[in-house]
Amino acid sequence: MTEKDFIPNPYSATVEQGQVTWQSPSNIALVKYWGKLEHQIPANPSISFTLDSCRTTTTLKFSKKEQLSDDFDFELEFEGEKKDSFRPKIQKFLERVEQYLPFLKDYKFTIQTSNSFPHSSGIASSASGMSALALCFMSLEKQLDPEMTEEYFTRKSSFLARLGSGSACRSVEGELVVWGFQRNIYGSSDLYGVQYRDEVHDNFRNYRDTILLVDKGEKQVSSTVGHELMNGHPYAERRFRQAHDNLDRLKKIFRSGDLSEFIKVVESEALTLHAMMMTSEPYFLLMKPNTLAIINKVFRFREETGLHLCFTLDAGANVHLLFPEKEEELTLEFIGSELQQHCQNGQYINDRVGSGAQKLA
Ligand code: PMV
Repeated sequence: MTEKDFIPNPYSATVEQGQVTWQSPSNIALVKYWGKLEHQIPANPSISFTLDSCRTTTTLKFSKKEQLSDDFDFELEFEGEKKDSFRPKIQKFLERVEQYLPFLKDYKFTIQTSNSFPHSSGIASSASGMSALALCFMSLEKQLDPEMTEEYFTRKSSFLARLGSGSACRSVEGELVVWGFQRNIYGSSDLYGVQYRDEVHDNFRNYRDTILLVDKGEKQVSSTVGHELMNGHPYAERRFRQAHDNLDRLKKIFRSGDLSEFIKVVESEALTLHAMMMTSEPYFLLMKPNTLAIINKVFRFREETGLHLCFTLDAGANVHLLFPEKEEELTLEFIGSELQQHCQNGQYINDRVGSGAQKLA
């Protein structure tokens, strides 16, 4: 599919007003997206586990404008309160997607949103938030075009979410989602995320992700700035090739269930992401002493127990701990006794792999 396929034909139905609610999860990348071209086209392919309990719930209320105007008309409420600080981000999103949703200026919208995870926890809400919003707009488009297929609905939701925040396109479906063209992954596209459909060993079913909240402050580097740092970065081309290679490696690992190899790829991806930031201009050091303390304890725990706990990081100091379901008991005990002390206010979130966004009644 190309971008043009997402520009709709004239709609067959009319809709005066209504509302719709979607709940959409966060996701955690195993192979990281870092670097992009124009229009949120990724510089390399990525793959993520969709999460389960870290979610954004968004209700979109819509009513036809009485008088047509050439502006977007929307109000924002976050956790029950008016939130004007989100306006510029939403305004930009609407401008970007307008050509694909030509009805946007015909309605007055109220967007009500809330997160399941603690406010300012340092967990990025852009993936869950942008995908939930994209799905809500698609539900309205589906009412305007009742013939729309489910496949088109899902693809276009991911396509629109991507225009809001790149990694958001991996939050529409579960459990493993690939975004970005990779020659050995069937159906993969730069335009939207697709479910990973190759064989996946039972070792990866119900995989756990415990998120350690090391630093709940504002992100030191916004992802917009971060992606830009890859333009002209001395190691960029090599890094982009490595992401392709790591997807090939993961494909074999998902088949064989080899957890030791899985750990090597996932941890190397996390450290490479940080290495890219440490070697860009300007450079950033986003790990905190507690991030390193946790990583060293994870290494030691693995050595001592032979279990398969591994870490990954996003563009910040928080640590995602990935581990198989059947090692949960011992691993959670270790997290509580040894790692919790490195979290801000002792806070962490136990999550797991999930099956994607859901429409609520
Ligand atoms: O979707 P963005 O633009 O916020 O970028 C997110 C990038 C990482 O979280 C660091 C990696 C990834 O693939 O999710």
